[in-house]
Amino acid sequence: MSSRPDAPVTFGITGASGAPYAVRLLRAFCETGTAVRLIVSGYGLRLLAEESGIDGIDGLRAATGDWSGVELYDALDRGATPASGSAPSRGMVVCPCSMGTLASIAAGTSRNLVERAADVALKERRPLVLVPRETPLSLIHLENMTRLTRAGATILPAAPGFYHRPQTIDDLVDFVVARILDHLDVEHAIGRRWRSGESSRPG
Ligand SMILES: Cc1cc2nc3c(=O)[nH]c(=O)nc-3n(C[C@H](O)[C@H](O)[C@H](O)COP(=O)(O)O)c2cc1C
Repeated sequence: MSSRPDAPVTFGITGASGAPYAVRLLRAFCETGTAVRLIVSGYGLRLLAEESGIDGIDGLRAATGDWSGVELYDALDRGATPASGSAPSRGMVVCPCSMGTLASIAAGTSRNLVERAADVALKERRPLVLVPRETPLSLIHLENMTRLTRAGATILPAAPGFYHRPQTIDDLVDFVVARILDHLDVEHAIGRRWRSGESSRPG
């Protein structure tokens, strides 16, 4: 089954640095009325606390707005809706995506619901956007990313550009979130789109 634009996006938050990206992305989904199936790993929760001062799922809800379109799933429940290819979906994003989760998706091990849902996105030929944050990268990281790209995923590193002359951390975060939304075909008004002659170059 292929992607359905009116169906929910599956959104995995894992334990890589970059919690502000996850918070902003979830807020953007809420603001644009995009239905979301949300899965947060244990380390995802830890990074939300350490980097964004967010206390658990209640804290995440308070920081991201109207959750009427958000369904929350237990990351350890591999029998939940996102684990099945028969559940219609628009695609999936993992943001931020730890190298551990990225490796597991590349290996198809499906050890938790984030990994299984990503496996489903690949087998159903739906968009799968992975937002890793690691530096430097080992050959293992690079090979896993290559393997995932070959399988149909989009590797979208949390690597904001500077040609739009960001003034704040929010500007940097918005840059990455806008690119994620573009790749999931979610209409949004975040950030300025590059226009020829305005600044240095497109990214
Ligand atoms: C404070 C902190 C920062 C971390 N930053 C990263 C990171 O930037 N990239 C990464 O791949 N892993 C990072 N890790 C390690 C992952 O959290 C760890 O590999 C974890 O097992 C990932 O599990 P998950 O993918 O199920 O969330 C970090 C861990 C902690 C505690």
